[in-house]
Amino acid sequence: MILVLNGPNLNLLGRREPEVYGRATLADLERACHDAGRELGVEVVCRQSNHEGQLIDWLHGAAAEGATGVVLNPGGYTHTSVALRDAIAGIAVPVIEVHLSNVHARERFRHRSLVAGVCLGSVLGLGVDGYRLAVRHLATASG
Ligand code: DQA
Repeated sequence: MILVLNGPNLNLLGRREPEVYGRATLADLERACHDAGRELGVEVVCRQSNHEGQLIDWLHGAAAEGATGVVLNPGGYTHTSVALRDAIAGIAVPVIEVHLSNVHARERFRHRSLVAGVCLGSVLGLGVDGYRLAVRHLATASG
């Protein structure tokens, strides 16, 4: 099973700054992840929370739930959360960081990711397709 976790404000996708994040809704994004998993015969479970601690709890529980990989868009916590970084560093399940937008082409405060260094890899700026790529990578790597 692959867990897809979306962090704060990503519930507003489609309505939120569409010129930056596009018109796809969270439901569209989650459907794309389910489809990518199904094509490879791997179950995908999608969740979203606006709460840092909830994201951390899901990361801690990932292995026990049977997740072989996590796709994580930490939203604004990417740039601020030592706790989220520590949670990723503390689990054995590989995590891929995904951002819809190219954070390096945006404000300076978005250029630094506190989680990037403890993730398997990062996919930036490819919109919903970035999630598909991350799911496919984890699905293939985990068989
Ligand atoms: C984001 C980029 C972050 O800087 C921002 O705070 C978000 C979304 C992205 O997917 O492009 O909430 O993670």
